[in-house]
Amino acid sequence: MIDSFDGLSTRLIIEGGRRLEGTLHAPGAKNAALPIMAAAILAEGETVLHRVPRITDVDVMTAILESLGARVREQPGGTMVIDTSSVNSYAPPYALVSRLNASFDVTGALIARFGRAEVPQPGGCVIGPRAVDLHLRGFEALGVEIDLEHGAIIANAPSLNGATIALAKRSVGATKNIMLAATKARGTTVIENAALEPEVVDLADFLCAMGARIRGQGTPTITIDGVRKLHGCEHTVIPDRVVAGTYLIAGAITGGDVTLQGLDPAMLEALADKLRATGAAVDAQGVSVRVQGIPAWKPVDVVTAPYPGFATDLQAPFVAYLSLAKGTSLVEETIFDARFVYVSELARMGADIKVSGRNAAVTGVERLKDAVVEAPDIRAGGALVLAALAAEGTSQIGGLEFIDRGYEFIEAKLTALGASAMRVSGVAPVLPAADITVTETLPRIVTPYAP
Ligand code: EPZ
Repeated sequence: MIDSFDGLSTRLIIEGGRRLEGTLHAPGAKNAALPIMAAAILAEGETVLHRVPRITDVDVMTAILESLGARVREQPGGTMVIDTSSVNSYAPPYALVSRLNASFDVTGALIARFGRAEVPQPGGCVIGPRAVDLHLRGFEALGVEIDLEHGAIIANAPSLNGATIALAKRSVGATKNIMLAATKARGTTVIENAALEPEVVDLADFLCAMGARIRGQGTPTITIDGVRKLHGCEHTVIPDRVVAGTYLIAGAITGGDVTLQGLDPAMLEALADKLRATGAAVDAQGVSVRVQGIPAWKPVDVVTAPYPGFATDLQAPFVAYLSLAKGTSLVEETIFDARFVYVSELARMGADIKVSGRNAAVTGVERLKDAVVEAPDIRAGGALVLAALAAEGTSQIGGLEFIDRGYEFIEAKLTALGASAMRVSGVAPVLPAADITVTETLPRIVTPYAP
């Protein structure tokens, strides 16, 4: 159920300068939960998912499934039951699809179930164009006819036949969508240069639990032997490495001591290596990762890359940390065209960052100062929260509707670690906030568009 909500008047108020300390459990991964929810369309029955994160992107995907005829029940503790036996439409509405790029994942599932899909193009967003050409070329290789009508992709597949598809780019979305469409194709599909991301592996594992025959997930070659029918199953979504990474950086940037539990440390190895290079202590053991910050840390250069490289989704949070390092770090963004859009907001807090195209030189400053800032996207929101935690004074972060898309209960989790963080509504963007009211429950916010 989606509430309309004036996100602009809701802000996160963070009083900086507190050392964060404690342990959090990693929530379920947004970028695994969303395609897995879409994949439930293939079950033609009931699917039970555990560790579904309580974020607004999940609300939108729920609404999309309901618009197609599915019944979705949320249970306490992050369990979701999706019954897709009564799905009777292959055309989700623009008003929902346009709200998140991951909604395009329903295309592969609808093609596999109905041989047809009519899905509005996801378009672009603030971090850069979000092309789907590789998804479409992959569908075509399986025998799908693709047309474009009124901005929507019209996919029509009288029959689906396995094929070998070599992706020109290691695209997460294209790998997921082609895998979905190929599950019920006749014969064998091979995806070459497939994305290695853990979220792709989780989707493949979920599809296998539904009866799909997929092997090679987590390697550059994924092989899918088509089956006639899939069935419902029970599955636990993998933990969110980006959310976990953001809280670990919160430990480092506040000179604190934060542990994230319930996740495979291998998922965070690239981040752990860079944190260690700055001098922070990172201890990865069993299913937990602990970061202990230090008072003064060294700069380090970072180049984002597909998994297992340094995640583009952690670029902005890590830049917030580097903005207080003792020296200059060079950061190169190789995945998205415009993923330094948040830099002007960090600059309001005193950060010294010079951007040239996909490169940024981040020169550490002595201190960050409080400011009124606006999050332009999910992960930039994470970066602004981190900067505010370390800054002197009390910052106001707007654009909470973006942060809520990817970070569940953010103020509660920060508070649990010892931060002073409060969600308030009715605040003019001026400090001090005289007549603020604390919002008591997490608002279910949906915004017009973003990653
Ligand atoms: C996924 O986006 C994630 N989103 C992103 O997380 C993440 O940043 C990204 O993977 C990279 O890891 C979801 O999983 C919902 P891609 P996706 O296809 O699938 C180009 C977040 O904050 N490309 O690997 O869209 C594309 O333009 C979000 O949680 C084509 O050119 O990523 C981009 O430059 C943000 N043609 C690059 O490839 C295509 O057909 C990587 O895209 C497809 C992609």
